[in-house]
Amino acid sequence: MGIPTYKQEPFEWYREMRKSSPVYREGNMIHIFKYKTISRILSDHQNFSSQFRDLLGEEMAAMLNEKTTPSILLLDPPLHTTLRSLVGSAFTPRSIELFEPRIRELARMLVHAIVEKENSDVVSDLSYQLPIRVISEMLGVPESDSEIFRDWSDKLATSLGRGPDIETQYDMADYFYKKIDRNSNGNNLISRLSTVEMDGRKLSDKEIAGFAILLLVAGNETTTNLITNAILSLYDHPEIYDDMRKTPSIIPGVVEETLRYRSPVQSTRRYSKIDTEIGGEEILKNDILALYLGSANRDEEVFEDGESFNPYRKEKRHMAFGQGIHFCLGAPLARLEARIALEEFSKAVPGFEIEKPSPDDRIDSDIMYGFRKLNLKVNR
Ligand code: HEM
Repeated sequence: MGIPTYKQEPFEWYREMRKSSPVYREGNMIHIFKYKTISRILSDHQNFSSQFRDLLGEEMAAMLNEKTTPSILLLDPPLHTTLRSLVGSAFTPRSIELFEPRIRELARMLVHAIVEKENSDVVSDLSYQLPIRVISEMLGVPESDSEIFRDWSDKLATSLGRGPDIETQYDMADYFYKKIDRNSNGNNLISRLSTVEMDGRKLSDKEIAGFAILLLVAGNETTTNLITNAILSLYDHPEIYDDMRKTPSIIPGVVEETLRYRSPVQSTRRYSKIDTEIGGEEILKNDILALYLGSANRDEEVFEDGESFNPYRKEKRHMAFGQGIHFCLGAPLARLEARIALEEFSKAVPGFEIEKPSPDDRIDSDIMYGFRKLNLKVNR
């Protein structure tokens, strides 16, 4: 069975590969499908690196390094450790919680517009709007810049997994440089990043710009897909939607199960710094490891009846946000936005019909799982 294109559902392929070739070599790319193996690799950052710039040609790396440092997602310790604690201190779960009322206000407004219309598109009307508006406000991007900002964000999302889009990164870096104010006591994220200090170390301009860009790349399309995927899964399970309307306290469970069952990020990568062996397959230094989180999340050794959507399941250790030192920094924000979107949606929408998305509606990405549109009709 060949590697599916983005238009195909990957889940059957995963199941087959977990059984027949859980560690599968294709040139210098090793595809890995089992939960335990992926977990072991993600926990061993010493031998399995995220620092892909080290593998790029010198010219490409120099061009990128001119304006931004690699994002923390693509760094190994010790720099990863330092930068993660610095940005982490500006992006705390507490600072995210403070945003809850504003997120609710936005979600309510977007859901209200859906209820008013006869037909809507969940993606463009709700799940796309919420994360980009939230992160723009968090970063202090004024409404007047929001169009250009969205355009950059879309371009970056499409470039994921296909090599860096240098022009967009440059434009964005220039934009954020102008926003840096070292004497600011403002409360937006760029102001906080401009002033955080740890053991006498501050973030450089390049690091601030790099981090702002990462938030857009890592946070928008992923959360959009989480919200869309949840609504699609609930449509397939009207009994769960009814439960959710009666008992909103099950909503966090619905969010977790969507993360597991239709993981917005289906895979991530590392490269091996050593010659070694994984699952009986010889691995050479610099081999690239493609780790299928979306497959780990359905691994029958960990999840009983993993191929069905069940928010009541006991085993919740999914890997949708990764594992180890790169565990998603935005997980509290993504969970909060999805929970609030579903709370507001289920309060306002008694029932709904969905036009099943076709394969052409899938996001054109080898990494992300989601849909470009999802047509919805509210039952009145
Ligand atoms: C890292 C998934 C939302 C910021 C990661 C990783 C995954 C992930 C799998 C680890 C990648 C790896 O180890 O190679 C998701 C999913 C999201 C989501 C599924 C939504 C449903 C967000 C949001 C933000 C964010 C909203 C911020 C606004 C980050 C950052 C990292 C990261 C900064 C890098 C952390 C590090 O390298 O130390 N995310 N993410 N993510 N995510 Fe998320």
